[in-house]
Amino acid sequence: MRVRVRRARRLEADVLAPGDKSISHRSLLFGALGTTPLEVRNLAPGADVRSTAACLRALGVSVEGGEAAGTVAVRGVGPGGLRSPAAVLECGNSGTSMRLLLGLVAGARVGCTLDGDASLRSRPMRRVLAPLRAMGARMEGQGGPDDERAPLRVEPVPTLHGMAHRLPIASAQVKSALVLAGLAADGETRVREPEPSRDHTERMLAAWGAPVRVEAGEVVATRLLAPLVLPASLDVPGDPSSAAFWVGAAVLVPGASVVVRGVDVNPTRTGFLAVLERMGARVEREPEPARAGDPVASLRVSGGAALRGTEIRPAEVPSLLDEIPLLAVVASQASGETRVTGARELRVKESDRLKHLVLGLRAMGADVDELDDGFVLRGPTPLRAAVIDAAHDHRIAMSFAIAGLVADGETRVEGAEWADISYPGFFRQLAVATAGALAD
Ligand code: S3P
Repeated sequence: MRVRVRRARRLEADVLAPGDKSISHRSLLFGALGTTPLEVRNLAPGADVRSTAACLRALGVSVEGGEAAGTVAVRGVGPGGLRSPAAVLECGNSGTSMRLLLGLVAGARVGCTLDGDASLRSRPMRRVLAPLRAMGARMEGQGGPDDERAPLRVEPVPTLHGMAHRLPIASAQVKSALVLAGLAADGETRVREPEPSRDHTERMLAAWGAPVRVEAGEVVATRLLAPLVLPASLDVPGDPSSAAFWVGAAVLVPGASVVVRGVDVNPTRTGFLAVLERMGARVEREPEPARAGDPVASLRVSGGAALRGTEIRPAEVPSLLDEIPLLAVVASQASGETRVTGARELRVKESDRLKHLVLGLRAMGADVDELDDGFVLRGPTPLRAAVIDAAHDHRIAMSFAIAGLVADGETRVEGAEWADISYPGFFRQLAVATAGALAD
């Protein structure tokens, strides 16, 4: 599927951010470690979270559609209650499903195979497999000395042993996998990261009674001896990474007026807001009641403020990792240089995001150089329409639709259906909000 995008003459929207993908995956996975029913409301709508749900079902966890749309009922099996699945655990496009599930099954005495689509099969998995093996897990992937990739085979082991890990790269997925494994391990499992990544795992597990704590910046987990103490229901706050596309669009389109409601503003997720404000954008946060233990706000953005380039340093990258393609599009309309470094991780996301954002922006006339671990962009440059390949990547698809809103001519995003991974319906909503600047 393709979407065609023309310059937006207006942008007016008052939207509810779809449920957060990271918190949705975790609600289902951690719900598996309880035994009482958990109703999850406002679950993230995309294909990734459906992959986690399907894998959990295959492992013996009940995950059923709830009464209302976007609601699921989880009935877990408690620690030690998973069963070996009859079929391969298909994780689709979802790295979070695969890596967190590895942590969940590592010490669960089950044998299973995890696989994914072509993109997920190309993503590095040794970063999870090696530390899990060091804890006693038996699991291996395909490939040579460079890295291991899916399909991954897991064999049952009697138990795991805790150990201290120092991650070379900040990663919430790796951290979460090790903490989950730590819940089935003797002794203490400690995880230290070079910079803090999103902290949903440690916050949610601790809130639900797991022996998980944060000590001087290190996450510490010990064996989970009893089922988690689940709430009866959980309201997933809106996804800041999905809300970011509305915020970015509003910042760029002159005269735009956008409100995105219900957005999770956990500080480990909102680096992009800090950067946009530094660039001169006006984003007001109106606090809403907390959800899932996280602060929540409505974001109110008016367009047309003069933007200036900025520097995004490595320490800031984990807090805005998934928003970098969008920030690059915004930076193309800012005066002066924007420099991003320390973001090599973007090369091993759903696509090589550094390569594709540079290719796309260049095709649209931006002055941008690719670095090994980031990019340097000089703006502002008027953008011109181009044909953009979404590269099987939801965030590339949505970022370039936003670029099309400020470009001359008709931009075409090929592979636009990939947006369904995290934000089904986004293009339809954006078409309405722009009074038809987008069409299929
Ligand atoms: C996620 C962590 C990040 C992020 C991904 C979701 C999570 O990945 O890019 O979209 O929910 O833990 P890494 O942990 O690999 O950096």
